[in-house]
Amino acid sequence: MGKQSSKRIGILTGGGDCPGLNAVIRAVVRRALLYGDEVIGIKNGWLGLVRGMAEPLTLLSVSGILPRGGTILGTSRTNPLKSEADTKKVLANIKKLKLDWLIAVGGEDTLGVARHLAEQGIKVVGVPKTIDNDVEGTDQTFGFDTAVSIVTEAIDRLHTTAESHQRVMVVEVMGRHTGWIAVVSGLAGGADCILIPEHPMTIQEICQILEKRHARGRLFSIVVVAEGFKLAEAEGLITKDESRDQFGHVHLGGIGEIVAQQIEKHTGFETRVTVLGHIQRGGSPTAFDRVLGTRYGVKAVELLHEGKFGEMVALRGNKITSIPLSQAMRKLKHVDPELIRTAEMFYG
Ligand code: F6P
Repeated sequence: MGKQSSKRIGILTGGGDCPGLNAVIRAVVRRALLYGDEVIGIKNGWLGLVRGMAEPLTLLSVSGILPRGGTILGTSRTNPLKSEADTKKVLANIKKLKLDWLIAVGGEDTLGVARHLAEQGIKVVGVPKTIDNDVEGTDQTFGFDTAVSIVTEAIDRLHTTAESHQRVMVVEVMGRHTGWIAVVSGLAGGADCILIPEHPMTIQEICQILEKRHARGRLFSIVVVAEGFKLAEAEGLITKDESRDQFGHVHLGGIGEIVAQQIEKHTGFETRVTVLGHIQRGGSPTAFDRVLGTRYGVKAVELLHEGKFGEMVALRGNKITSIPLSQAMRKLKHVDPELIRTAEMFYG
């Protein structure tokens, strides 16, 4: 293949922020500059392409960002496919900004838009990002490892106070559709019961586990609950309010409080709740997420140069590879039943 002329690559970060986004941005810029390409940073996810908000990214703009949480580009939950006018603006701004290629960094929503644009002929590749780790087709999304280490540390801290007061501690963690954070941090932190969206349980089942533990003389317990968990006997998800974002997602939160009240009511064990919330998404990425983000960023630019448009970078085993966005967006990646089975062996 002959030498390619230099290209203008746009990059955007969409959806909830997540540690490691800056590692991806830095890697994209560094790899692109080695090819002689230009990189344009699009502000605030798809909103930046609706409004044409963008600025060039240089070596200087990405210097020192590797350990920083969040995203220097900003993010939003804007869905440009909601209105035909916005979709047209996105296509017009891609032209106006003279973008040859586009890199979309995001979870199911952001990448779903990327897939749609790829079908319209836009030369785009995706990078899977979410602390929830629920993107199909990749072994791991970056940001997940950082969230797990934050939750694990919190569980360790809650253990000492739970034991001193002989209490049940309920920890509510993120995980809208899947319980990856809950299961992996629960395993790492030695949780006594883990409640996830994939596996509804009744309050009786939960209380039996805690009572069994009590009966063998362990008078404190840690219960990890993912925000998307549903009690088997309850209807619907527990939400903060009626609002929905542009992708139709409800604002989850509050299941921890309900589970705690029910545990106290049924067992008489004193119970407290901790909601970790956005602490799980904030701050510096772990070494693992910095390296994964860097490898994803490098591979995304290489995919564009190989003409593999409409693909998403992915981790398979220890190798970085890619799969079609259409394949990755078919369904969510749910928690591996083997992990759930392992966690259950330590209940009670
Ligand atoms: O990005 C995924 C996520 O962290 C989910 O786990 C959570 O439900 C949601 O984002 C929270 O969104 P927001 O930051 O908009 O409140």
